[in-house]
Amino acid sequence: MSHPDPHSCFDDAQPRARHLRLELFVDFDRHVIDGSVTLELAAAGSGSFDLDTKGLTIRSATTGDGVAIPFALGDEKPILGQRLRLELPAKTREVRIQYETSPEAVALQWLSPAQTEGKRHPFLFSQCQAIHARTVVPVQDSPRARVSYRAEVTVPEALSAVMSAGPAGTRKGKRPGTRTFLFEMPQPIPPYLLALAVGELESRDLSPRSRVWGEPGTVDRAAWEFAEIEPMIAKAESLFGPYDWDRYDMLVLPPSFPYGGMENPRMTFLTPTLLAGDRSLVDVVAHELAHSWTGNLITNANADHFWLNEGSTVYAERRITEAIHGEGAAVLGWAIGQKALDAELERFADQPQLTRLRMELAGVDPDDAFSSIPYEKGSRLLALIERTAGRERFDRFLRDYIAAFRFTSITSEEWLAFLNEKLPGVAAEARVEEWLYQPGMPSNAPVFRSTSLESITLLAEGWEAGERPSPGQIAAWTPTELLIYLQHLPRQIDRAGCDWLEGALHLTGRGNYELLVEWLTIAAGSDYEPVFPKVREVLTRVGRMKYLRPLYTALGRQARTRALAQEIFAAASAGYHALSRRVVEGVLAKYPQ
Ligand code: BES
Ligand code: ZN
Repeated sequence: MSHPDPHSCFDDAQPRARHLRLELFVDFDRHVIDGSVTLELAAAGSGSFDLDTKGLTIRSATTGDGVAIPFALGDEKPILGQRLRLELPAKTREVRIQYETSPEAVALQWLSPAQTEGKRHPFLFSQCQAIHARTVVPVQDSPRARVSYRAEVTVPEALSAVMSAGPAGTRKGKRPGTRTFLFEMPQPIPPYLLALAVGELESRDLSPRSRVWGEPGTVDRAAWEFAEIEPMIAKAESLFGPYDWDRYDMLVLPPSFPYGGMENPRMTFLTPTLLAGDRSLVDVVAHELAHSWTGNLITNANADHFWLNEGSTVYAERRITEAIHGEGAAVLGWAIGQKALDAELERFADQPQLTRLRMELAGVDPDDAFSSIPYEKGSRLLALIERTAGRERFDRFLRDYIAAFRFTSITSEEWLAFLNEKLPGVAAEARVEEWLYQPGMPSNAPVFRSTSLESITLLAEGWEAGERPSPGQIAAWTPTELLIYLQHLPRQIDRAGCDWLEGALHLTGRGNYELLVEWLTIAAGSDYEPVFPKVREVLTRVGRMKYLRPLYTALGRQARTRALAQEIFAAASAGYHALSRRVVEGVLAKYPQ
């Protein structure tokens, strides 16, 4: 196999880059990164050397000795971008490319000062997963082509830079009014884990190996919210083996960040919507931390095997939750996941191929295939295997698996072969091939129950019959239990019902975005006018796709809320990340005309 990844021109018969040296100048005036990358090859090589690029302007290519390397950019392909083919002279050891990114680079969002918390300085952040690293740097942009890197990043003096790497000092920049930040990432990572953020940033130490970064107006709230990170890392280590990445730092981004979290190694990126003020949303941190083992140590070979990253990580996240907060808390996590899974199976009813775990995404944009299915179906498969093998044997399997494949990128088939070797008979008994290759949910999916879950869902299902939680019940609920109650309510509720919910539960003023958005989704879908200003506020401020999709979908139900949605989108879309904008455009396109 010379092209192991349908989303990359990476050719494993060609020379292989092993280490990158980046020199980047971050130009906030032109919204471009101007710089160079030196690709150090694993061995001296010659002949064709293909890299992925998208929107990059290539200025020059030379060998380590400064000899010009002939190169040609291929045709622009939808989804993939342009192949950069270099013809390496004999015994080439390194390739230096001078280039510039496009202001439209999908991986980069350039924020104006107004879009930040502090309002005084601009901000830049990257989001490279799954195939956007090629909009930042010419690379073999496939998870099998792991690279270590070092970087020199020059930014305006007032700003700081962080990367998915260890900090290695700063110095005065060559251009006046600039400062250069140095970074070192000694471990080999898939290119989608390259990450950079630049802004007015401060940090607070949380433990000897962890600190949180954020804008000055956010960082103290973040330090409080994530204060319990060290026991979480320790729990994860006891489950999955030693933490291999030295530091575990976090960065809280401005609210347009399109995801809840991104597991950039040594520097998890997080949405500020996690700052609920009560530590109730740290499951996202548990998830990103768990990726340090499942995803970053062992990576999907390409987007077809995305479930290996996310399914394993959701399973690991819930094991961490269970270890810290008990089995009851983990069951609630599984219940919330079940709701997401059901919704996505419905959304993909006419694309059943996207509900298989092992996908075939040649010609499909991984961002369009993205859903909760690899997360929730994948984690359920692992829970089923755990139940089939017994927890003790499965935990041993997990640790063996991580030790065997650390710092590699693998396919579902390689995973299955290892499972068959270490736990013979278990895959057949659990019908693993049906889980991997058939659409939808197999009939042997594990069920997660608890008395608390049962009583909350029963109460919610009694809504139409007039059942309501008592003030005592409400007062005893954790935020997660309240969320489960809301998730099990009907999607449309009459005015009196909405008034009752708001009166009893004070939902519109909640700082917990999971609760707030679940409520706004019900209320907006019910044409409940009192929440319209809050809906506008959230949709204007927050770019997290997990919230935009259900809210805009709910607004599609009635003519008047459809008009509201169009109006909000017209005003807010310039501030959305390109990925978020595309998701919302997709939702709006399905509105009845
Ligand atoms: N790696 C993902 C985010 C991602 C996936 C970005 C695919 C781009 C392409 C991250 O770990 C994630 O899953 N985030 C979730 C967290 C949740 C499952 C706890 C999110 O953003 O909501
Ligand atoms: Zn994840």
